[in-house]
This record gives sequence, C-alpha cells and structure tokens, in this order.
Amino acid sequence: MKIAVFGTGYVGLVTALGFAKFGHSVYGIDRDEEKIKALNSGKVPFFEPGLDELLLEVQGKGLVKFSTDGKEAVEDSEVIFICVGTPPLEDGRADLSQVEDVARFIAENMKEYKVIVEKSTVPVKTSYWIKRIMNLYREKDVGFDVVSNPEFLREGSALEDFLYPERIVVGVESRKAREKMEELYRDFDAPILYTDVETAEIIKHASNSFLAMKISFINMVADLCEKVGADVEMVAKGMGLDSRIGQKFLKAGVGFGGSCFPKDLRAFYRIAEDEGVDFSLLKEVEKINELRPVKFVEKMKNVLWNLKGKRIGILGLSFKPNTDDVREAPSLKIIKLLKKEGAEIFAYDPVASENARKVMPELNCLSSPYEIAEGANAIALITEWDEFRGLDWKKIKDNMETPLIFDGRNFLEGRKLASLGFEYYPVGRKPFGRMNG
Ligand code: UDX
Repeated sequence: MKIAVFGTGYVGLVTALGFAKFGHSVYGIDRDEEKIKALNSGKVPFFEPGLDELLLEVQGKGLVKFSTDGKEAVEDSEVIFICVGTPPLEDGRADLSQVEDVARFIAENMKEYKVIVEKSTVPVKTSYWIKRIMNLYREKDVGFDVVSNPEFLREGSALEDFLYPERIVVGVESRKAREKMEELYRDFDAPILYTDVETAEIIKHASNSFLAMKISFINMVADLCEKVGADVEMVAKGMGLDSRIGQKFLKAGVGFGGSCFPKDLRAFYRIAEDEGVDFSLLKEVEKINELRPVKFVEKMKNVLWNLKGKRIGILGLSFKPNTDDVREAPSLKIIKLLKKEGAEIFAYDPVASENARKVMPELNCLSSPYEIAEGANAIALITEWDEFRGLDWKKIKDNMETPLIFDGRNFLEGRKLASLGFEYYPVGRKPFGRMNG
C-alpha cells in the first residue's frame, strides 16, 4: 500500500520505517528541514536501537521517501498517518495545533478518498476535531474517514514494539476504512482490536495512566518498606506472582520520566475534568512521582550530612536505558536539587550527555564512569544502563573520596559492593555495608 506519515519523531519514524519493512511504500513528511536532510542521507536524528540499519535497508529498496513538502504524499497515499507532536500546554492539556495544521493540509490537498489515522497520543474527541477541520477545508465531493490507531511503542525498544506488538488497536467507523486498515496490518502477527474511535483514543491514555499508577504505587510501597526494614523487590515479586497483578512495571526507584507517562497522565485527568469526571486518583499518581527525586536527595542528605561542597557522581542521565532522551528525566531533577544544596556534580551517560547539556548547559559531563568517581563523596545511579553492571567497582572505590553508592534503580548487587568496602543505599530495601549503624 501507499502510505504517508506526517511527523518523523519517535512514533512517526518508527511507523514509517516499520511499514516500509512490511513492504509498504512510505512517504515520511516533516517540516523540520534538518531532520529531513539527515534522514535522506541515511541518518536517524536520534538514538534508537535498530533504526539506523532499517533506514538504510528500506532506503536501499526504494520503499521510503522523506520530504518537507507533503503535497505529493497526500495525493499519492491511500492511508495518511498523523504522528506530529502533541506537547503539553501550561495546564497539562495537550497542544493539538500541529494535528490541526496537518488535518487542514490534508483536506486542502486531497483529491480522492483518504483514510486519516491519528497515531500521535491525543485526548479523546480529537478525531471529532480532525473530522471537523477536514469538513471545513476539503472539496465537498472528496470523501474521507478518520481512524484512531494508537501506538504503544517504548523508547529503547521502539522498533521491536512496532513490529511485534502485543495488540493493535484500531478505532474505525466505516467498513471501507476498516478494510484499508486490515490490508495495512495483514502481515502483522498480533491480535487486532476493532473499536469505535473514542474507545481507541481512551485505550491509549488509560493504558499509559494505568502503568504510571503501577509505578507510583510500588514507589509508595518502597517508602514503607524502607521504614520497616522490608524488601520492596521481594514484595513486588510476591505481588506479581498473582497473575491478576503481574510482575511488570513494579520496579521501584526514582520515578518515571520520558515524553509519555508524565504528559499523558496529566492530559488524561485534564480531559476527564473537562468532561466533569473527577479522576483525582491520577493527580495523586503524579504527585507521588514528582516527589521521588526529592525523597532520593533527602536520603542522600541523611547519609552524607551536608551536601554543600560534596562531590557527587551521577551515573545515567537518560530517563531510562537505551535511549538518549532526557525529557522529564529524574536525573535532571535530582541534579538540580543537589546543586541547590551546594553539591558539585559530575555526570556520565553512554549516549545522553549531549541532550542533557542542551537543557543544562553548565552540567559537567565526563567521558567515563571512572572519571566521575575521581574524588567523589558519593555516586548516584539514576539510569540502569547495562554497562554499569560490568564496571570495575574496585577501581571506582579506589578513586572515590568516600565509597558511598545510592542506587536509584535497585540495579547493582549491594552485597558484593559492600564486600568491596562500599556503603550501598538502594530504594525500598535495607542498605548494605553501612558503617557505624
Ligand atoms: C511508555 C509506554 O510503555 C509505551 O507503551 C507508550 O507508547 C509510551 O510511554 P516509554 O516512555 O518509552 O514508553 O518508557 P517505559 O519503558 O514505559 O518507561 C517509562 C518510565 O517509567 C521510565 O522512566 C522508567 O524508568 C519508568 N519505570 C518503568 C519505572 O520506574 N518502573 C517500572 O517498573 C517501569
């Protein structure tokens, strides 16, 4: 099939390349000239495993074309995906102006029936507004359908999630559009749930909000565990063995970040509010998450006494491993708080330093974990990058002024580190190796 994808961010680019991998012919459209230039020269403008190779592969087969001009893409495609950004406004509601712009552009340029698919995460009823804009700007005899097909991919495993999804949700209101969507997803090995459009829109926000709720829940349990000397990892395991609860997304730590959970959570309770539904449960989820960095720094203070003048090494800046994304990253919030206390910060991340410096230009990013350990009073592990497990911790200890580790992700082996002489402070579990009580 011929398809067009408007927006080449995470969701858009993965969608474009993913469909091309299945043999569809894809146009990728973005107003950002730099991005399009990079993509046309075979470069993915952000870090995401597997995307570089796939870009070259589908470019080699002539299955994907990138451009800043979407005219040809609209005329030539049967199905058009809207994957542009829906950033949060001050009040937490989603800014849908880019969605409106694209809908208008499609309406003004289409000459025959099109299926328009919203894939960006949008609040319920966005399809109503897309339809309205289409109706205002299209030629009257040119038909269209609006479909909601939310994307559930995670950064760091985006391609995998797109190619092998656990489910595909398609909100659709006409047989014609449903047939097009069936054809598009024909070769995917996943259950497809067909619903009406509003239901599909709600599924996306409800899923992300529910996962965020699981994380905040376990984080509060972690706080309680810390107080009474219980072990949150075992509590999560014990809870998760109940298949009604499940093991996933019960990892306690410094809180969730990223471009989705914080934003979608707020957008969801805001839209509920607009509809007169008090979903304040989700406000609590948000509040708990916002306090995670604060509590983590308080814990450091309780161990280090004064933070003023202390040298602290930060391991990991991205909001989670395998991505260079620092949006809403707990690391940056923690660094800000530590700096406010007068601590001196040195950070290391395998790929996210450049992005971190864009938002925090004065941040000292060093090129190895051993360098941040040099003369440090403590190390705080904020992102659980695999490579941190295999570090030479003895060498790190020898480089440090005082051997303290705060593990914000319960990622390292406390017992082993204690045997090397470290004091090790996890989240929601007993510390190891603490000297004098
Ligand atoms: C999320 C959803 O998982 C995905 O389906 C949706 O399409 C977009 O939002 P993403 O933001 O890429 O994906 O990352 P995810 O792996 O879900 O992690 C989100 C945040 O939660 C990270 O900061 C992570 O560290 C944190 N997290 C996750 C926890 O703190 N504990 C957990 O148990 C799981």
